[in-house]
Amino acid sequence: MNILETENAAAGSADPSISPSDQEKGHRCRQLTVEEWTKLNADNMLVSDYKQAKLEREARKNWDLFYKRNSTNFFKDRHWTTREFCELAELESKDGSRPGQRFLLEVGCGVGNAIYPLLEENRQLFVYACDFSPRAVQFVKENPAYDPSRICVFQCDLTADSLRESIPECHLDIVTMLFVLSAIHPEKMPLALKNVYEVLKPGGCVLFRDYGLYDHAMLRFSKGHKLGENFYVRQDGTRAYYFTEEHLSKLFTEAGFEAASSEYVLRETVNKKEGLCVPRVFVQGKFTKPSQSLTS
Ligand SMILES: C[S@@+](CC[C@H](N)C(=O)[O-])C[C@H]1O[C@@H](n2cnc3c(N)ncnc32)[C@H](O)[C@@H]1O
Repeated sequence: MNILETENAAAGSADPSISPSDQEKGHRCRQLTVEEWTKLNADNMLVSDYKQAKLEREARKNWDLFYKRNSTNFFKDRHWTTREFCELAELESKDGSRPGQRFLLEVGCGVGNAIYPLLEENRQLFVYACDFSPRAVQFVKENPAYDPSRICVFQCDLTADSLRESIPECHLDIVTMLFVLSAIHPEKMPLALKNVYEVLKPGGCVLFRDYGLYDHAMLRFSKGHKLGENFYVRQDGTRAYYFTEEHLSKLFTEAGFEAASSEYVLRETVNKKEGLCVPRVFVQGKFTKPSQSLTS
């Protein structure tokens, strides 16, 4: 089994149904058992610099091969985004008239599992979407719901290509970052955030969700997969960073954003077939570009 796990990965046969009592939000991270703590601390052998440099050079290729293997079948559609982020819901004006169009960008969009449900639920949105995997971009275009009057999808490496090549500066109301920053080398995360900052309107926001410290998937890595603190490589060469809430807020504030909210989301994913309950940890936040901000 491919060990890439996201909240609703279809391939792991995990049932993503969650009862309200299973879910907890807040500033407290998951507590580890002594056994888990010992295993995590015993894993102190890092992948060699040579291999790490190769993984970085081949990051795009490895994600593209991921989509070649899995096509559109790995992630399930993300129908939870409007529930988790009220900013994504349709706006209603007091006089009953329809407010104007809003512009959203989903970075690291994969095959479009987040954007298509959103376009269906919110008729006011125009969605830009980008990913550095050419196959992922092609899958977005091949979706039967693809409508060029409402979607503009393009290939872009967030850490190397300027988003301003495809989107005007200070144009966007909202940027969504769902399980993408964790795939980027920690040293390059500030570059990705700077890139996003430039195309966001002053007053606009980034809606963020990603893996949190001590997530079940982090504890499952065997020796030989550790790249650095809280940073691991999967069997298929794709990488995953596990965020603390503090580190996430620091990254965004250093990039010029204000942290409107940032918290851990703890939940248990039930695998009904195997009778297993696995503890998942995510970090979720909202980061705004100050209204009075200056751009470069
Ligand atoms: C775990 S998937 C998440 C996909 C999608 N956001 C979702 O939630 O379904 C991470 C995605 O980030 C993309 N990605 C990783 N590094 C990137 C980079 N430097 N620039 C653009 N996309 C990147 C990968 O190709 C992959 O599609």
